[in-house]
Amino acid sequence: MAPSVAVENLNPKVLKCEYAVRGEIVIHAQRLQQQLQTQPGSLPFDEILYCNIGNPQSLGQKPVTFFREVLALCDHPSLLEKEETKSLFSADAISRAKEILAAIPGRATGAYSHSQGIKGLRDAIAAGIASRDGFPANADDIFVTDGASPGVHMMMQLLLRDEKDGILCPIPQYPLYSASIALHGGTLVPYYLDEKTGWGLEISDLKKQLEDARSKGIDVRALVVINPGNPTGQVLAEDNQCDIVRFCKNEGLVLLADEVYQENIYVDDKKFNSFKKIEQCTFSLRFICHRRQLRLLKQLTKHLMHSMLSVSLNQLESLWSLDLGLAKFPEHGISGARSCRRKKRSLP
Ligand SMILES: Cc1ncc(COP(=O)(O)O)c(C=O)c1O
Repeated sequence: MAPSVAVENLNPKVLKCEYAVRGEIVIHAQRLQQQLQTQPGSLPFDEILYCNIGNPQSLGQKPVTFFREVLALCDHPSLLEKEETKSLFSADAISRAKEILAAIPGRATGAYSHSQGIKGLRDAIAAGIASRDGFPANADDIFVTDGASPGVHMMMQLLLRDEKDGILCPIPQYPLYSASIALHGGTLVPYYLDEKTGWGLEISDLKKQLEDARSKGIDVRALVVINPGNPTGQVLAEDNQCDIVRFCKNEGLVLLADEVYQENIYVDDKKFNSFKKIEQCTFSLRFICHRRQLRLLKQLTKHLMHSMLSVSLNQLESLWSLDLGLAKFPEHGISGARSCRRKKRSLP
């Protein structure tokens, strides 16, 4: 008879998964909570507060009513036709719900949508990203997921073919990364954040860990950066981010930037910059640096209008238009590019 399904013969990749924030300490706390219920007074405390995951609402913080109201109205749009809704819901929530419903085909939630997410909503997300970064964002490049974790799993599924594929991950890390790499059968390649420099990320350490993994036959496919960090809380400096982008380009790595905490900065001298913006700055910088060579090439091309090179003229024009894109957003683009340029000069 074939062996029946048991824990021991489940998918070993699942058995290997660990999620520290829901691990041993939490399980022990749950045992103690049960003890408090069955034997009140048996412990020197009478309540347990769970701080293992960022769950402010379970600790009494009130949810932001705007989001709840908008969601309620979108999910039950007939409320919008009732007179009493105007006194129960805020005017801004009512108008936002109407806007969102107008962007949804059939003006109703709950239906299957485009697999990347509803186009009208992706347009709104792209507009938000563009105004945050000062660079255009394309709704077709956006995939809407129900939380950050499904997005991370999607990327691991895409990148990891077997245990010879590796992902560079910060240590300390949020355990989503070790767990998803284990689940998708890859190898975690650690790099270490330095507590002495405020949990800084050293390119030399990245390089060392990458080379070490490659010497063991690991094909390193991507680099995870959590910025602002969890659990470490550091905010990366713009120059450091430029170096990371260049490192990924040089080494052929996909940069997986986890920016879920971009709003959580509590000091005046730190500023969040998205890696999307930094990447645009360094990319535009390449064309600024090569401007003189491009100008020469352009002149040369003009002289050879009827040859094969005339095609390159169009290509050059489109490269120039990238530069124009930067000029349209001087307050973000130029300063980012300038600081990348400063850094570049000091590079070997
Ligand atoms: C750094 C980091 N990334 C991703 C996640 C997961 O986000 P979500 O709950 O949206 O899946 C968390 C959750 O705490 C996190 O701290």
